[in-house]
Amino acid sequence: MSYYLITGGAGFIGSNFVKFMLKKYPDAHLVVLDKLTYAGNLRTLKDELKDSRCTFIKGDICDPEIVQKIFSDYPVQYVVNFAAESHVDRSIENPQLFLQTNILGTQNLLNIAKQNWTTGKDEKGYPTYLSDIKYLQVSTDEVYGSLGETGFFTEKTPLDPRSPYSASKTGADLIVTAYSETYKMPVNITRCSNNYGPYHFPEKLIPLIIKNILEGKKLPVYGDGTNVRDWLYVEDHCKAIDLVLHKGRVGEVYNIGGHNEKQNILIVKLTIETVRRLLKEYPEYMPACSAAKDSPDIDSWMNESLITYVTDRLGHDQRYAIDPAKITKELGWYPETKFEDGIVKTIRWYLENQDWVNDVTSGGYQKYYEEMYGGR
Ligand code: NAD
Ligand code: DAU
Repeated sequence: MSYYLITGGAGFIGSNFVKFMLKKYPDAHLVVLDKLTYAGNLRTLKDELKDSRCTFIKGDICDPEIVQKIFSDYPVQYVVNFAAESHVDRSIENPQLFLQTNILGTQNLLNIAKQNWTTGKDEKGYPTYLSDIKYLQVSTDEVYGSLGETGFFTEKTPLDPRSPYSASKTGADLIVTAYSETYKMPVNITRCSNNYGPYHFPEKLIPLIIKNILEGKKLPVYGDGTNVRDWLYVEDHCKAIDLVLHKGRVGEVYNIGGHNEKQNILIVKLTIETVRRLLKEYPEYMPACSAAKDSPDIDSWMNESLITYVTDRLGHDQRYAIDPAKITKELGWYPETKFEDGIVKTIRWYLENQDWVNDVTSGGYQKYYEEMYGGR
């Protein structure tokens, strides 16, 4: 058995990674540590939690006792840190929470992993470690700041965060680097572009737009809609993390991106068209569209008239674009899912999983947790 501590495993990317790893590695035991903030949902892991290879622990990555208890109870070899406050808009409202979780939480994980993995000291005084261990920090392309019309982020691009969220993720990256340099701890940092796919919390652009279309609500586009993001299907991100964790050169940073730049307005228009087409092609999806109950002629309203331009995000980064040449050359990774296919898969998932959407957005999730875990 190989033991993995997966933090933030009840969130969007973390849960997709848990599902991916359990399928790929029959001998993996995953310990999922998650605080279950508004963004983390146990319902997302309901099938995985029936598997004896997956253990869930509710707790905060900032809490040294709970993290130490996990290392005492399980022979953890790999830590993959997804846990974070992840939404830029929320970071503008409450920066402190982002610094607390994203920076201090990361340092707490590093420190306890180091204590438990250290075997002694070498002749220069550096700690020596158990073999086959690694700490992987899941970071973001936002640490590089904002691009103009041309160019790409490489691993050598200077760090230039601009939002409280990206500043906190940069702080976390720097403390990971400090543990690598100062204590020679085996680490990697991955920096990925915007993910999309199943289990994405509907505060982020793509799932929010899908939800609003189905409810016949306005689709808020910040500023003039020309900001560019580089979209990657979440499963391709999970594959990249697995590769870096097991094959990445120790101490290295790897950028992960889809070479799939799109303006926000284009994403919104494409999502409207695709939802409308799928509802017409598959009438069995129609119950997912609550607005169609009162207005069944969806062509008359499910169109660009839903778009509304709203006040721009403060300090809104104009463009992100990743150059993934390093991970492609060294580890053979490439984005397998074409955007045209990934967006259809994603929308179909939301059409088929309205219960999940309603649950995570209604507060019903807390009740679910109490029923399932009875206050444990
Ligand atoms: P998410 O918000 O969907 O999930 C975050 C998870 O972390 C939730 O389950 C939440 O309950 C948990 N969490 C929050 N604070 C915690 C704490 N103090 N202790 C324990 N658990 C805590 O986020 P996501 O979109 O899945 O992002 C996961 C990671 O990937 C983050 O580190 C994010 O910065 C990074 N990332 C995200 C994207 C993206 O497009 N979503 C892209 C690149 C990098
Ligand atoms: O680039 C990686 C980052 O991608 C991750 O590190 C973050 O955790 C993740 O949340 C995401 O950040 P963004 O700010 O790019 O994602 P978001 O979905 O919030 O916004 C995408 C773009 O859409 C952005 O330019 C803002 C715009 N937007 C967003 C929302 C929620 C709108 O125009 N309207 C909206 O309602």
